[in-house]
Amino acid sequence: MGKLTRFGVSLEGGLLRKFDAFIGAAGYSNRSKAIADLICKEFVADVFKKGGRVAGAVTMVYDHHRREVVSRLPDIQHDHGGIIISAQHVHLDHDNCLEIIAVKGPAAEVKELADSLKSVKGVKHTTLSVTSAGKPR
Ligand code: NI
Repeated sequence: MGKLTRFGVSLEGGLLRKFDAFIGAAGYSNRSKAIADLICKEFVADVFKKGGRVAGAVTMVYDHHRREVVSRLPDIQHDHGGIIISAQHVHLDHDNCLEIIAVKGPAAEVKELADSLKSVKGVKHTTLSVTSAGKPR
């Protein structure tokens, strides 16, 4: 972490009260960490939008009885082997599987992987969560 720098921020009172309630509910004990996290969130979103390198996870739930899922999911993951770090498979219940795929690479390819996986018949829900691929700030 670099040297801390103090700066003043002026906000309308109502907005500040809402912000304090928001960060309190989110578990922050002070404004500085909350503001830093919000700034980093915007930076990561900007990196993703501009096609930079990101790291993250594709999380999905699917019915393993569906034939297309069983054949397509491994094919898609092999096609994107260059950005997949690891995959974890959990048998949720008799029908459903949870798969968490850790990824690192160009935003466009990460998005393409997530989009390909979620479009397979039998995949019930998919999320893509990304963060910085390296230096957080
Ligand atoms: Ni399973």
